[in-house]
Amino acid sequence: MREAIILVGGKGTRLRPLTNHTPKPLLGVAGTSFIRHQVAKLMDAGVDHLVFATSYLAALFQDEFRDFAGLEISYAVEEVPLGTGGAIRNAGKLLRGGPDDPVLILNGDILSGVDLRDVVRRHEARGADVTLHLTRVADPRAFGLVPTAEGGRVRAFLEKPKTAAECVTDQINAGCYVFRRSVLDAIPDDREVSVEQETFPALVAGGGLVYGHTTDDYWRDLGTPLAFVHGSADLITGTATSPLVGPPAEALVHPTATVHASAQVTGGSTVGPYAVIGAGSVVHRSIVGERVTVEPGVGIHESVVDHDSVIGAGSTLRETVVGCHSHIGAHNELPPQLRLACGIRIPAGGVRVTGTATACLTAHRVTGEQ
Ligand code: GDD
Ligand code: MG
Repeated sequence: MREAIILVGGKGTRLRPLTNHTPKPLLGVAGTSFIRHQVAKLMDAGVDHLVFATSYLAALFQDEFRDFAGLEISYAVEEVPLGTGGAIRNAGKLLRGGPDDPVLILNGDILSGVDLRDVVRRHEARGADVTLHLTRVADPRAFGLVPTAEGGRVRAFLEKPKTAAECVTDQINAGCYVFRRSVLDAIPDDREVSVEQETFPALVAGGGLVYGHTTDDYWRDLGTPLAFVHGSADLITGTATSPLVGPPAEALVHPTATVHASAQVTGGSTVGPYAVIGAGSVVHRSIVGERVTVEPGVGIHESVVDHDSVIGAGSTLRETVVGCHSHIGAHNELPPQLRLACGIRIPAGGVRVTGTATACLTAHRVTGEQ
């Protein structure tokens, strides 16, 4: 038996409002919930028992996998979030393997091309306590820094460095581990524990056999809106791969969606069920949700428009998240990185970044005039 845990208990705050009612791993990426891509990858690696470490909106994971027959799934539920280490320890109680068996652990928001069988093989060949998959990124500050010695032995674990002096490497924790089961069982279970801030540093300081396996495979943490849209787009264009995604394509348009012949849907965009894309509109590297209406002449770039929203004619969105049931009137030009809550209404011509603002939208009562 090969066992795995996926950590899916986080609140996904950086992806609000998309995560207001849906946990981050259940958001749609390249046409299906993100977690299904991860589960399919684990199945390809021979995993036959998976434990979800759930907390935030826990019941939705059971709903998602109710009729799933591909592998056995158990659910560990934290009434109060236990932190990443506490979550691993808690989920570990549902594992069935022996004390020396390897357990694969994934963060629930990692899109990665790493060969999971290879990570487990290296872990077993070294007789390691823990093996971490590592990757290199241009800006490591949002991650766990993991300097290694010759041969891959981990020298330190520095979660989210605060100062430039702490940025000792561009090699980071890629959110994929193999634990010897007995090491995971030794994490305290009477309080919240961070695997990054407590467990890994303590194991390294205590002389534990902690190894890093660094690869240059595709890797992305989908925790921010921009990373989220790019991860989805990369799966569709074939830059990233998943057992659930077909051959590379420019876009994934649901069969019930309507895209005008003069519209362009490019760069790995997805267009959800019953969505409508109007004449001359451009949707590039974006996710357009279910029943969204994009009127003519709209530009949507690197953005997410959640279900049941309307984007008015001639409007432009860049790196924008539009919450569900919103209505953006015609000829709005939204500033980049805007995140709109669910149900927001912006009148026609209400927002501009460049050029001239629309003439006054309100009918004023002019006083002092005869
Ligand atoms: N069950 C449970 N309980 N899961 C949790 C909890 C909890 O209390 N807290 C966080 N998680 C889950 C999240 O749902 C996510 O799947 C994973 O743990 C990591 O949390 P993030 O919030 O995404 O962390 P991060 O992206 O800031 O940093 C982590 O990932 C980086 C790689 O992407 C760290 O592990 C870094 O060291 C790492 O570099
Ligand atoms: Mg993350």
